[in-house]
Amino acid sequence: MGADKIEQLIGQMTLTEKLGQMSMLAASLVVTGPVGPGDPVTLVREGRVGGILNTWGYDEIREAQRVALEETRLKIPLYFSVDVLHGHRTIYPIPLAEACAFDRDLWLRTAAESADEATRDGIHMTFAPMLDVCRDPRWGRICECAGEDAYVNAEYARAKVTGFQNTNDDPHRRLAGVAKHFVAYGAVTAGRDYAEVDISRRALHEVYLPPFKAAVDAGVMGVMPSFTDVAGIAMTAHRGLLHDLLRVKWGFKGVIISDYNAIGELIAHGVAQDMVEAAVLALKAGIDIDMMSGAYEQGLPVALERGLVTMQEIDTAVRRILHMKGAMGLFENPLRGLQQEMPGPDTIPSHRTSARDAARRSLVLIKNEDNLLPVANDVRRIAIIGPLADAQSEMMGPWCMAGDEHQAIGILQGLRESLRAQEITHVPGSGIDDAADPSEIAKAVAAAQASELVVLCLGENRQHTGEAASRTLPRPFACQMELAKAIFETGKPVLLILATSRPWILPDWMVSAPRAILIALFGGTEAGRAIGDVVAGDYNPSGRLCISWPYRTGQIPVHYGMRGTGRPHDPNNGFSTNFLDAPIGPRWGFGDGLSYSQFELGEAYVSKPTIGADESVDVSIDITNGGARAGEATLFMFTHDPVALATRPLLELKDFRKAELAPGQRATVTFRLHASQLHYPDFNMEPRLDNGRINIFVGASARRADQKCVTIEVQQTA
Ligand code: GLC
Repeated sequence: MGADKIEQLIGQMTLTEKLGQMSMLAASLVVTGPVGPGDPVTLVREGRVGGILNTWGYDEIREAQRVALEETRLKIPLYFSVDVLHGHRTIYPIPLAEACAFDRDLWLRTAAESADEATRDGIHMTFAPMLDVCRDPRWGRICECAGEDAYVNAEYARAKVTGFQNTNDDPHRRLAGVAKHFVAYGAVTAGRDYAEVDISRRALHEVYLPPFKAAVDAGVMGVMPSFTDVAGIAMTAHRGLLHDLLRVKWGFKGVIISDYNAIGELIAHGVAQDMVEAAVLALKAGIDIDMMSGAYEQGLPVALERGLVTMQEIDTAVRRILHMKGAMGLFENPLRGLQQEMPGPDTIPSHRTSARDAARRSLVLIKNEDNLLPVANDVRRIAIIGPLADAQSEMMGPWCMAGDEHQAIGILQGLRESLRAQEITHVPGSGIDDAADPSEIAKAVAAAQASELVVLCLGENRQHTGEAASRTLPRPFACQMELAKAIFETGKPVLLILATSRPWILPDWMVSAPRAILIALFGGTEAGRAIGDVVAGDYNPSGRLCISWPYRTGQIPVHYGMRGTGRPHDPNNGFSTNFLDAPIGPRWGFGDGLSYSQFELGEAYVSKPTIGADESVDVSIDITNGGARAGEATLFMFTHDPVALATRPLLELKDFRKAELAPGQRATVTFRLHASQLHYPDFNMEPRLDNGRINIFVGASARRADQKCVTIEVQQTA
């Protein structure tokens, strides 16, 4: 629908109909917020709804859209939105797992496949990608983001927005993306969900904003502010960040959708007296769509009468919404994309295959003593123990909406399919989070004693993950620790598989006892087969950690990008930054992960020693696969600015690359570093580039021992 038709339509709309377009209500196929969903179709009939969330499927979509098109005065089509975060019916690894693949093409592909399935079910928009950088495993929603690093989350944002919005050839198979939750939701105090966010302006500009800037630059169609505040200003009313920065400075032209009930919750935030004030604050901040709170419908008519808002401000919001519906093609084809056949892993087998590949690439082998893995052919009897061994539902993770756990492959089935020559027994041994049962533990011990290898599957359930799931001590549950202790006491070799939604704080004995540890997180529909592929050696693990695993909760936040200090850690100097009861670094850090191959790095070298303000330098390194198996290495390029206006992170990731190498193969990997990538915010948060030396570290992880260093000089002409 062209701009003139939209203006004509706006000119015909009553205030009720305008506020209806600005209201989004939830249906009840799934509940994602505190205000219970009603029956939005009734309100559609009254012209009081512009979009519906949490519904999908042929019958549901057809009926709701029929009411909008046949039983309302202006017959404006609805749009439908769901949290398609890591798949729709085919479920892919949770973002925190998929980010460990460090594979932009993979991230884009799974988004495009998710869009394909969701649009077949009549969905037009997804509340994704979630881009909240997080370094606090206490926060349940850490599972929804791409880890601790701003650059990785920015690359993830670009890939996901492109995959959702611009990849599938058929425009009806494209999904409008909504970047969320703007901004810094991942920095909630103490990892407690919805808590206040107090961060520096520097952290805001260097860490939390960049992924959203990447999403906007990639053309994301929507942005969702976070429930939280930033330094005392509730994001749902934050005109400075939503209007001045997002819309004016960044040029974002899409719609801003509040989070669930968030406008009404400005009252509880203590910044609005009532729904009228809440509605005024949100509208003035630039929020176009009120999800579920009713504040716009209840508050804006009064606000208009009082002269607190203008009809032009309301029309501006309505205009953006109608333009979005036009861009979705809904005026021409309100049922665009909808099909009767249910999409999913069994009607679109290529998606199941893709989900298996995504899950394999997301696995991180973090310990493999004496090459316990892949399982040797002469290992005949294997005991699979633990509450996550046969847990299809948990493998789906949070936000799996239309995902059917009955279509998922658990670890037990995956291992059975991969280890056909072995005799496999299975004993849960405990629940996920309930009282330990000595008799069940005894059964598990007996199974372990009768085996040659134990696969111990521990982890969380879906209730422990995602929204409103913060834990003060993100560690294994007591019953699982009792089971693990008993199994380790048998002395049998153990592969520990961690199916969690977040980094766990592991007791040291739980790390030293098993011979091998596989960080699986929640791998989705094909999680079990992916694990089977790695354990049996049919896939050479290539995942690397995108998030640090602390030794202790007291270390949080701990991540590779810590800034320098005037008293850097020095074990020989008591007056240096330190803990008396723990190392200062994480147990496992950014980029850690093992392969069945052995990769050796040559020296790093640069194409030229100096660069000017608008120049690039090529940074190269040779890598050799010294092992007997083909494998995929991940290489990272970090920089460090040793002398700057502000203290700089000791490492800043600027690029990552995969390298597929046959046994004995040697390859040269070349990164291109442009001077603009060396900018950092000055005291006014404007980009600054210094003359002087820049250290470049290329390597397999953020550990100094895994890196090669080379330097360049920035020389800007006066
Ligand atoms: C939830 C979440 C948000 C989600 C929305 C709709 O409360 O905060 O991420 O997109 O409601 O389900």
